[in-house]
Amino acid sequence: MAQLDKIVEGVYRISSTAGPGGFSFNQFLVKDEKSILIHTGAVQQFKAVADSIGSIVDIKQISYLFISHFESDECGALCNFLGLNPNLIPVCGAITARQLQGFGLHGSPQIVKPGDELSLGKRKLSFISYPSEMHLWEGLLTYDTTDKILFSSDLFVARGAGEAAIKKANRAEAMKIEARSIPSEEGRTKCQAALDQLDIQLVAVGHGPVLDLRP
Ligand SMILES: [Fe+2]
Ligand SMILES: [Fe+2]
Repeated sequence: MAQLDKIVEGVYRISSTAGPGGFSFNQFLVKDEKSILIHTGAVQQFKAVADSIGSIVDIKQISYLFISHFESDECGALCNFLGLNPNLIPVCGAITARQLQGFGLHGSPQIVKPGDELSLGKRKLSFISYPSEMHLWEGLLTYDTTDKILFSSDLFVARGAGEAAIKKANRAEAMKIEARSIPSEEGRTKCQAALDQLDIQLVAVGHGPVLDLRP
């Protein structure tokens, strides 16, 4: 099993550590009337990740899979999850959807745009533009409006093995987008402005401990 931690009621982090420096790969499960998995992890981690998720919820009952951008740690195990649950609907931006369709991985992902909202039942997710696809084209981040959690994918990354699942962080430092994360100044400024408008309490990063910005 991969490491499993409850972040808040109904939101779980599944985490596997690999490589030198303790680089971790996180997936998140948001449980609701319609549950959503945020990223799949790569195929190599699939069994461990699926076992951990399966200890919380029947994978067949998960409605959605959010994919920030087309990369192996974000959606490499898509077909493995579809094998367990053929009704799982990938939710992603138009560019990512084109990849999934073009590679024959899924015929009809649900395409969402920045500003769209997806109701899960009690919770609602919104979407933010994140230039993370090839050629810095548009990928997405998602934000849980109930517990004010930003699922930040690769935008904010922390190294270090054996850390606690949640770590206190300073908002100004934690939320500053580095040039290495979005090399285009225009793209970086736009993404920063979108994040600065959100009331973010927790940052559920794709790699590293969840950042707790609460006072
Ligand atoms: Fe990525
Ligand atoms: Fe990633």
